[in-house]
Amino acid sequence: MGVLPNKRLHHATQRQAEAFTAALAIFLVIFMLGGLIWTPSVQAEDELNCVLCHKFRGLSRIDENGRFRLFYINENLFMKGPHKRIMCMDCHRDIKKIPHDPAEKVSCTVECHLTEPSGKQKFSHAPVKKVLEASVHSKYDKEGNLKDYPEDYPSCKNCHEQPLYRPLSFFKGESAGISRRGLSRCKTCHQTGDFAEDFYSHVTSRLQKTRESKEIVEVCAKCHGDPAFQKRHNLDNVIESYKETFHGKAVSFGSNETADCLDCHVVYGESVHSVESHKEPTASTHKNNIAATCRNEECHFKAGEALASYQVHTDYDNAEKYPMQYYMLKFFKGLMAAVLYFFVVVIFLELLRRLFPNFSFIKEKPADAESVLRNNSTEKGA
Ligand code: HEC
Ligand code: HEC
Ligand code: HEC
Ligand code: HEC
Ligand code: HEC
Ligand code: HEC
Repeated sequence: MGVLPNKRLHHATQRQAEAFTAALAIFLVIFMLGGLIWTPSVQAEDELNCVLCHKFRGLSRIDENGRFRLFYINENLFMKGPHKRIMCMDCHRDIKKIPHDPAEKVSCTVECHLTEPSGKQKFSHAPVKKVLEASVHSKYDKEGNLKDYPEDYPSCKNCHEQPLYRPLSFFKGESAGISRRGLSRCKTCHQTGDFAEDFYSHVTSRLQKTRESKEIVEVCAKCHGDPAFQKRHNLDNVIESYKETFHGKAVSFGSNETADCLDCHVVYGESVHSVESHKEPTASTHKNNIAATCRNEECHFKAGEALASYQVHTDYDNAEKYPMQYYMLKFFKGLMAAVLYFFVVVIFLELLRRLFPNFSFIKEKPADAESVLRNNSTEKGA
């Protein structure tokens, strides 16, 4: 259970509002009792002091859909996360007074109070949304019409929730990419507060993959691995076929150097949100571009054109789409069986001979005991 799980927020019906007030009342009593031992923690970004209440671990309830909701905010984790400089109210915009009403869903593309230094504009994730809307994952087609099954298309929170969101127990407490030695160099000049540490981790955490390849496969598999989804969109089971390949197997053993879904489906150097169908001429997986995709400097940098003929998503049960692989597999299965059974028979006969060395269908009396002994000793000597 994460701290900010993306659960469907309910509409503010009368009943819920009453339940909310009751919960708040109960909570306030606990809160006042606890107030005596409470030590104030400074949270500069938190004007309405949200964590004053939300720091209590027990702040939770079962909602009307029977799902467990945890309203506890672990300040320590929050302050290590990417949103530590953003006020609670910058995202939870509808909350303006305390005690507050049931909250609305948060939009990931609102402008926040931070200024992005390169353009000196208010920062927001709206550019990501634009890229996403130009990708195959937009629920609108090129003419702007809603596609079939719009609910199947991923929103920000679809992908950035589980499993990309790390639950408490797996959260790596340390900031990624931080080396004390590197940091000490910044501190030579930037000596005030956490400035050096903040910007050092801001940059270094982006110099590497922050999600393991395994996790990326899991994210895509949430939709692409679902048989009903594949049927609705007439897509192959790309997850299974990927897992059959060398890449897939290496990733399942924990490799992060082999190609995962994004390494192939995103044009090298572009935003991970720009996945396109292989039918688009600009796609990294379009037949004209596959060779270039394989040949980037981090993968098969010396590879020739022939490597591009490698098929990643071979479905061995599909005789129509992959006839060659289908019949090859059948042939090899037959060959395997033939070889295996042949040798099993040979081994069995050999075993019989060892157990019954003197057995013979043709009963022939040995000439005399001495000649048998002589024969045996010459065999061993040979
Ligand atoms: C006086 C204590 C208190 C303060 C201060 C407080 N909250 Fe809450 N908040 C609660 C309680 C209690 C709940 C759980 C209500 C329930 O049972 O549904 C809650 C629930 C929530 C929820 C989930 C509500 C829902 O309907 O899904 C959000 C989001 C939230 N608070 C955000 C904030 C933010 C942001 C702030 C600061 C601006 C804040 N809270 C300040 C007591 C507080
Ligand atoms: C970067 C934006 C962002 C910031 C900053 C943020 N939240 Fe949230 N919060 C969310 C999102 C997204 C959700 C998931 C629910 C949703 O989709 O609206 C959420 C959910 C919650 C919930 C409800 C959990 C549940 O089970 O529904 C609480 C409580 C909450 N936030 C409190 C806070 C508090 C307190 C702070 C400040 C310390 C804070 N949030 C800061 C984006 C944010
Ligand atoms: C199809 C799944 C998917 C969707 C939908 C999606 N993302 Fe992402 N996002 C990812 C993945 C995967 C990464 C890269 C993770 C990595 O390389 O460590 C990423 C990276 C990011 C990053 C960069 C984080 C960093 O520190 O480098 C931001 C910011 C981001 N996404 C915001 C958004 C927003 C905003 C939306 C909605 C408009 C969105 N994403 C929708 C999968 C998705
Ligand atoms: C030799 C001294 C020195 C070292 C070492 C140094 N900086 Fe700086 N840094 C400066 C100076 C001086 C400025 C402001 C002048 C400028 O804008 O060019 C600056 C500006 C910055 C800024 C831009 C601040 C802003 O708001 O415009 C960032 C971010 C930054 N440094 C981060 C770092 C990090 C991270 C490290 C370590 C990897 C580092 N610096 C190492 C001297 C240094
Ligand atoms: C929330 C569900 C969802 C998630 C998660 C998701 N996708 Fe998709 N994906 C879709 C839908 C819907 C389509 C459109 C299928 C269609 O054309 O009808 C699609 C299409 C695609 C296509 C194009 C298929 C074609 O027509 O050629 C690729 C490639 C793709 N996704 C890759 C990915 C990758 C890589 C990830 C993981 C980072 C991912 N998807 C995660 C829902 C999802
Ligand atoms: C080594 C590169 C590579 C990797 C890794 C890879 N793909 Fe693909 N993918 C391709 C190529 C090339 C195509 C287009 C030609 C084809 O179907 O073989 C494709 C096609 C697809 C399609 C369209 C299939 C259809 O039925 O039209 C989807 C969806 C897809 N990939 C999703 C994924 C997902 C999800 C993953 C991760 C589990 C993944 N791919 C991993 C290269 C890759």
